[in-house]
Amino acid sequence: KTYGCQMNVYDSSRMSEALVSEGFDITENTDDADFILLNTCHIREKAAEKIYSELGRYRVLKDKNPNLKIGVAGCVAQAEGEEIIKRQPLVDLVVGPQAYHRLPTMLKKLQEGGRSIDIEFPTEDKFLHLPKVNNKNLKPSAFLTIQEGCDKFCAFCVVPYTRGAEVSRSPNDLMDEAYSLTEKGVVEITLLGQNVNAYLSQRNGSKWNLAKLISELARIPELKRIRFTTSHPNDMCDSLIDLFGSETKLMPYLHLPVQSGSNKILKAMNRRHTVAHYLGVLERVRERRPDIAISGDFIVGFPGESDTDFQETIELVERVGYAQAYSFKYSSRPGTPASDLEEVEESIKSKRLLELQAVLGEQQKKFQRKMIGNEYPVLIEKQGREAGQVVGRSPYLQPVFINGSTDLVGEIVSVRMKSYRTNSLEGEIL
Ligand code: SAH
Ligand code: SF4
Ligand code: F3S
Repeated sequence: KTYGCQMNVYDSSRMSEALVSEGFDITENTDDADFILLNTCHIREKAAEKIYSELGRYRVLKDKNPNLKIGVAGCVAQAEGEEIIKRQPLVDLVVGPQAYHRLPTMLKKLQEGGRSIDIEFPTEDKFLHLPKVNNKNLKPSAFLTIQEGCDKFCAFCVVPYTRGAEVSRSPNDLMDEAYSLTEKGVVEITLLGQNVNAYLSQRNGSKWNLAKLISELARIPELKRIRFTTSHPNDMCDSLIDLFGSETKLMPYLHLPVQSGSNKILKAMNRRHTVAHYLGVLERVRERRPDIAISGDFIVGFPGESDTDFQETIELVERVGYAQAYSFKYSSRPGTPASDLEEVEESIKSKRLLELQAVLGEQQKKFQRKMIGNEYPVLIEKQGREAGQVVGRSPYLQPVFINGSTDLVGEIVSVRMKSYRTNSLEGEIL
């Protein structure tokens, strides 16, 4: 079971593949399982607490099946380590995000009895030690982690501690993986990293940054669409910004978190950029790709945030015009620098979140309303909620529901948009 960000989704599929190649079968049903692995998220308190309530539910399963083993992977595993077992003795295995390649060995150890914990940051690259992508049931759109970890240390964030320092995978490894994905029918790849635009590596003596990697991937004929997430405003270099104007396979969507519209709060957050820098980046991206959909992340109620600071966030949102965005109440995380600061009252956080989400919601509606009546290329991904319906993605990443056959899965079709809901559109194939 996977929680948290896309990186965890990618890791879960690589771990499943590793276990399948060791002879395991995958089941989605916990009642059938002999091993349950939760891939967890530590980003906010609620995310971490969810894991303990889920674990609590497994007691009955363990009573029924004495052979059942329970494992915790991901960022809660890294952050809490052995403490997890102290708090929930049902847990047999704890594996941190950089030690996944050791999972099969750890499971063997479990079968001999006892518990198994590995939250090291080994020097070897887990991806090189995991079996190559061998999933036969790939969807048309796939994730590919190119970079992991973070060196930015925003004052509120656990990621630098749970994922470790920034590490970029080698271009050879990534090109191989991209080819093997497209050979299996993948037509869209989303490049992943906690700081994906900090990607930096080398091939044959020349430097590869994210722009170079995207340009090389774009030469794979079967690959039709390329996306990347998540970027930091300080790593939006010229070559990447320019690519939005020149590389047609790069989709017109940019998720660029800003967190706050107040320079005072950005400084306290240790974001190391200003509002003006952020707006400047977006202006340059929009010059090259005027239709681009901008997405963002916001935190309200960071310690010290006054009403004026919050109003500056609203002003920033109004200046940018987001196609969609994520917004959160600040959640104090153990071990982060901001956890020592005095917190904003909960009721104020809630009020601010509602106000921000109302403005963002209106902007999303406006973005979608403008699309009605126009045609867009939609990549059909899977069957829809109803029979005879399929769902795909617009260039701007919105789900689009269409009447059509599942024979279309994997095709990019021209769709006229007819109506929209909060987070999706409905259209007809032309
Ligand atoms: N690497 C990305 C995303 C990191 S986590 C970036 O640099 O922006 C995803 C989002 O969760 C963050 O952008 C932030 O908005 C939110 N987040 C992180 N820590 C948080 C905390 N302690 N409380 C509330 N939201 C948080
Ligand atoms: Fe967390 Fe900041 Fe790194 Fe993003 S850039 S992962 S918010 S520390
Ligand atoms: Fe959560 Fe870890 Fe991703 S804390 S957001 S699963 S990097």
